[in-house]
Amino acid sequence: MPADLDPLLFGEIDPPQRLLMGPGPINAHPRVLRAMSADLLGQFDPEMTGFMNQVMALYRPIFGTQNRWTMLIDGTARAAIEAALVSLAAPGETVLVVNFGRFGLLLTEILGRVGAKVETVEAPWGEVVPMDAIAAAIERVKPKVVATIHGDTSTTMAQPLEGFGALCREAGALSYVDATATLSGMEIAADRWGVDIVTGGLQKCLGGPSGSAPITISDRAAEHIARRRHVEEGIRRDDIADGQGPRIGSNYFDLAMIMDYWSEKRLNHHTEATSMLYAARECARIALGEGLEARFDRHARAGRAMTAGLRAMGLTVFGDDAHRMTNVTGVYIPDGVDGEAVRTMMREQFEIEIGTAFGPLAGKIWRLGAMGYNAMKHKVLLTLGALEVCLRMEGHPVPLGDAVPAAMEAWGD
Ligand SMILES: Cc1ncc(COP(=O)(O)O)c(C=O)c1O
Repeated sequence: MPADLDPLLFGEIDPPQRLLMGPGPINAHPRVLRAMSADLLGQFDPEMTGFMNQVMALYRPIFGTQNRWTMLIDGTARAAIEAALVSLAAPGETVLVVNFGRFGLLLTEILGRVGAKVETVEAPWGEVVPMDAIAAAIERVKPKVVATIHGDTSTTMAQPLEGFGALCREAGALSYVDATATLSGMEIAADRWGVDIVTGGLQKCLGGPSGSAPITISDRAAEHIARRRHVEEGIRRDDIADGQGPRIGSNYFDLAMIMDYWSEKRLNHHTEATSMLYAARECARIALGEGLEARFDRHARAGRAMTAGLRAMGLTVFGDDAHRMTNVTGVYIPDGVDGEAVRTMMREQFEIEIGTAFGPLAGKIWRLGAMGYNAMKHKVLLTLGALEVCLRMEGHPVPLGDAVPAAMEAWGD
């Protein structure tokens, strides 16, 4: 230890009580935080493997699936995205990415590292890609895999996915959907959409911290991945044979080995992140306890209220009204207003965080979220009231007192 580093120097963690009303992370539900402080177990303790099985059962309805392979990837949402893509696509294979924002670009970036031949079908930021454009692109590029985002928080748009999986299947392609930002806030219908892999994260509508990523895998995709199974040397067993396909280019994100770990074989892979598994389990219990339909409705109301309040302030909401995510809303920063100064004032005066934006939208829009534990009427109203005051103090002439009543009316009840 450096001589001048007093071990008591930094003090106990005692963060300020911020209200996180950006595109995620958001405040975790207190029940989730309590679950995370439960005692640890060994990874093959029957109680622990019992909890793993419960997590599999709890996430099936959340993904709208009967898929046996419904489990967790240890890591943030991006870990599950990477696991899905590196396990589905082999180097040199053609993958079609439906790209309408920053996270479509992330899929492209990850697939580039996988060594796939990436083709895209695109929409401008603020719009979604029409299904017939996806169909035409599939016809043109004949992909082995088609990958898309459901709700892209960078643009706040939700890509319609009815019929998406069937379209891919008919063309002999596997399909992947990133539902990080919408899982348990908007309907995810993995089976009805006919999608092969869907992944999520905890830190948005599920109301947990980031660090665990739920995933569901169809039998068809699981068989495809099993053909690429290459068990690592030190844990080989006579009863688990390697497949003939190309080895998956990542050990940590090898879904064949991760499925073996979550199966009754319990073939050791990583050490399951116990506290995060407790968190994921509690997030799912809370969501199912509320009821998914009621939860979708709560997010829809929050989104409507936020949008109505922003419009009542005379602000312009970003993007196509017909395809809005319910849980995060983009709004143009008015001309002449310093967006960062407003965000700082929101944080320093009101303890409220709202989101900035990426790429072509950086400095142009703010993103205001209302999801999971924060998709509540009073939190939306507090945020709008505070924003109104901060805009005024930054010299922008918003009408005082219009946003909150407009939001209350849009919320209903
Ligand atoms: C749509 C989408 N996908 C992926 C991610 C990446 O999630 P993480 O930061 O947990 O890796 C995010 C995070 O904002 C997201 O909104």
